[in-house]
Amino acid sequence: MTNIEVIQADITTLSVDAIVNAANNSLLGGGGVDGAIHRAAGPDLLAECKTLGGCSTGDAKITAGYNLPAKHVIHTVGPIWQGGNNNEAKLLAACYRNSLQLAVANNLTSIAFPAISCGVYAFPVDQAAEIAVAEISQFAASNPQLEKIYLVAFGDEMKSVLENKIKND
Ligand code: AR6
Repeated sequence: MTNIEVIQADITTLSVDAIVNAANNSLLGGGGVDGAIHRAAGPDLLAECKTLGGCSTGDAKITAGYNLPAKHVIHTVGPIWQGGNNNEAKLLAACYRNSLQLAVANNLTSIAFPAISCGVYAFPVDQAAEIAVAEISQFAASNPQLEKIYLVAFGDEMKSVLENKIKND
């Protein structure tokens, strides 16, 4: 049985099997949570990312966690919000699903997600939270070997939006 929890934290501090990175198609680092993860993991993370050949939007790839307390990083690429008619919702759902699939395929039991696409990529927060909770709940229902899923909010607003979605799910 999977436990799903909303927490407010810096995702780079979490001791879980995998933290998810909201990366870009190059997988070569950036700002936001991506920058924070690369800073905390150290240069070996970038070296491994350079071997991966980038990542399509909605897809996910796994690396080691290096200097992070997390054992692995699952890099996924969220859609850039373009008004909602460019498959943004489907692509964001795919980020959550493919990241969870990769965790299970690697026998991981705990994973923490940031609010993918909710920063620089400007996805509306309410809709993104709805998609995150729906995908995670659906996946957890058929994958009980996954013990713990954290939805990590960086700020107060995201925390309350996610908590409301979990309650009403
Ligand atoms: N821990 C948890 N959440 C965080 C942290 C942190 N340390 N730092 C930021 N957030 P963003 P995106 C939250 O912009 O929208 C990068 O440059 C943040 O408050 O990091 O998917 C990539 O390289 C927000 O709610 O990711 C891409 O080019 C959420 O993480 C692009 O940004 C996501 O914000 C991806 O944009």
